[in-house]
Amino acid sequence: MNTRPIYLDHQATTPLDERALEAMLPFFTSEYGNPSSPHVCGRGAARAIRTARRHVADLVGAMHEREIVFTSGATEADHLAIVGAALAVRSNGGNIVTTVIEHKAVLAACRRLVDHHGYTVTRVGVDRYGQVDPHDVAAALTPDTVLVSVMHANNEIGTLQPLADIAEITRQRGIIMHTDAAQSAGYGLLDVAEAGVDLASLSAHKLCGPMGIGALYIRDGTRVMAQQTGGGQERGLRAGTPNVPAIVGFATAAQLITIDAVPPPTRIRALRDRLQGRLLATIPGATVNGHPHRRLPGNLSLTLPGIEAADLLDRIPGVAASAGSACNSGSGEPSHVLTAIGLTRDQARATLRLSIGRSTTRTDIDEAADLITRAAHTLAPTPPYAA
Ligand SMILES: Cc1ncc(COP(=O)(O)O)c(C=O)c1O
Repeated sequence: MNTRPIYLDHQATTPLDERALEAMLPFFTSEYGNPSSPHVCGRGAARAIRTARRHVADLVGAMHEREIVFTSGATEADHLAIVGAALAVRSNGGNIVTTVIEHKAVLAACRRLVDHHGYTVTRVGVDRYGQVDPHDVAAALTPDTVLVSVMHANNEIGTLQPLADIAEITRQRGIIMHTDAAQSAGYGLLDVAEAGVDLASLSAHKLCGPMGIGALYIRDGTRVMAQQTGGGQERGLRAGTPNVPAIVGFATAAQLITIDAVPPPTRIRALRDRLQGRLLATIPGATVNGHPHRRLPGNLSLTLPGIEAADLLDRIPGVAASAGSACNSGSGEPSHVLTAIGLTRDQARATLRLSIGRSTTRTDIDEAADLITRAAHTLAPTPPYAA
């Protein structure tokens, strides 16, 4: 009997693609070598990193592989982008504009600038679908603004932002534009030229690569101050011996997306729509959060009135999903994203995030729908909304 739960938490992390694992394995054993070493072993590792950089650059449409700097993940990439870029252009001004629905990695980097470097941060609101209006970004800019950071796709409600429209505004004003693309890159949705961004954060474990590796795309000419100094690796922007196996795994996962060697997003969207349709039909009063169309194919954020999402998940250990976002789970605080789109604290706590991925099957969807429905009916047998 399969004891693994039905995994519907692909926005928290994705299973490693076996092809990425295969590519990584030699770099733990036979292909060892420090890429900084001048001998044959080091040169082999350096070559593997060069190839990897090209694959990651291709995933996001970067012109040059030198525009990719490997980091430990999107958290570090966000920090390097926001703190690093702001400090590099400190003499130009001290204001950052971001949104109220960013990941905590972005919000914490902004807070660091406020608490330790005297910056001000302006947070632009969103509509009920979680979308930022580019006019609101334009209105928030001041002559002091040096950086705008707007996430590409939200990790809780999946809503995609109009990056190109926002970047057009920042470009005209000579302001650096950063996006956290940790959630969207796995669908091949980020093209840095099309989006017009100067900086973009990526995370391998959200796109079927390994944990603990990510990258920051830095458009040529964008000034960034290193936040981790030492041996001068990564063009001096991120010191530390590179994690060669992880970089190779990340690049392989990226390449599989670029060459269409993974199931297309339309398949994931169809499964998501099936789950959404079934749950809306069987759980009275259930509502979907996020934009109806402009949202990640695999995202389903559902509010089930009168039900604590955490209680519901406790009742169905056979389904691995998340109450709100993985980052807020366990904190007891309602999600800042859900409250930003207008949900009450109770509604936010009644919200379940189900995220579908490449390995999800139709059987998974149907079984999960049955389990969730049964648990919802047990927890709210006579819900106030079913009058
Ligand atoms: C939007 C977003 N940004 C940043 C992160 C952090 O990524 P990492 O785990 O690679 O540090 C996550 C992961 O939860 C995310 O969803």
